[in-house]
Amino acid sequence: MARTALVTGGSRGIGAAISKALKEAGYQVAATYAGNDEKAKAFTDETGIKTYKWNVADYDESKAGIEQVESDLGPIDIVVANAGITRDAPFHKMKPEQWKEVVDTNLTGVFNTVHPVWPGMRERGFGRIIVISSINGQKGQFAQVNYAATKAGDLGIVKSLAQEGASKGITANAICPGYIATEMVMAVPEKVREAIIGQIPTGRLGEPEEIARCVTFLASDDSQFINGSTISANGGQFFV
Ligand SMILES: NC(=O)c1ccc[n+]([C@@H]2O[C@H](COP(=O)([O-])OP(=O)(O)OC[C@H]3O[C@@H](n4cnc5c(N)ncnc54)[C@H](OP(=O)(O)O)[C@@H]3O)[C@@H](O)[C@H]2O)c1
Repeated sequence: MARTALVTGGSRGIGAAISKALKEAGYQVAATYAGNDEKAKAFTDETGIKTYKWNVADYDESKAGIEQVESDLGPIDIVVANAGITRDAPFHKMKPEQWKEVVDTNLTGVFNTVHPVWPGMRERGFGRIIVISSINGQKGQFAQVNYAATKAGDLGIVKSLAQEGASKGITANAICPGYIATEMVMAVPEKVREAIIGQIPTGRLGEPEEIARCVTFLASDDSQFINGSTISANGGQFFV
C-alpha cells in the first residue's frame, strides 16, 4: 500500500509543489492550510489532493486534524513541516505579538505537527520528518530576528529528532531554501527582486519544484542513511 504523507501549508507556494511532487511519486498526500479556503479548494480541484484546515500553532487542533487524516488515509509515514509565516520588523520596532506569532507558527508548529505522529512511527519502525527551514535561519537577516530564530530552532529540532528516531527507522532532516519564486517573492517590487537576485551566484530565484525534488528524495527509502542533515537549496547564496 502507498505510504501516506502530510504536508503542512501544502496548498500554496512551496508546499503545493511538495504535495504535487509527492503525489506524482506515488504517495497518498494530505495537504493542510490555515484559512485561505479559496486557494485550498482551487488546489484540490486542480490536483485531487485532499486539504485539511487547522492552525499548526494549536496543539489540540493539530492532534485532532492528524487523527482525521489518519482515519481517512491511514497512518502517516512522512511529515513535511512546511507551514511558515513572516512578520518582519527591525528589532527596535518588533512588537511582542510579532515575535509570538512567528514562534508559535514556525517553531511550536513543528512540535505540534511531529509530536502526534511520532509514537506511531516508532511503533511501525519507519518515518520521515522533513522540516522546511530557511537560509535566513542559517545566516540571520535584517528585520527577521523572530523568523531567523525560529528557522534556526527548527534545525535544532531536526538534529535532536535524528538522534532519537534513528534506532526506530525514523530520519529527520531539514531543507533550507534560499529565495524561491513564490507569490510572496514575485510580489515584491521588481527593483528589490533584482537586488535579491544580484546576491545569488546562480543568477536566478529558485523554483518551488526544486525544493519539492529535495523532499521526494528525503521521503524515499534511498535516503535512509541521511539523518540530521540540512540541505541548503539556495543557488550558492550562502555556504555553511
Ligand atoms: N518563499 C521563499 O522564498 C522561502 C524561502 C525560505 C524558506 N521558506 C519557507 O518555506 C515554507 C513555505 O513558504 P511559502 O513561501 O511557500 O509560503 P506561502 O506561499 O505563504 O504559503 C504558506 C502556507 O502555509 C500555510 N500556513 C501559514 N500559517 C499557518 C498556520 N498557522 N497553520 C497552518 N497552516 C499555515 C498557509 O495556509 P493559507 O493558504 O490558509 O494561508 C499556506 O498553505 C515556509 O516555512 C517558509 O518560511 C520560504
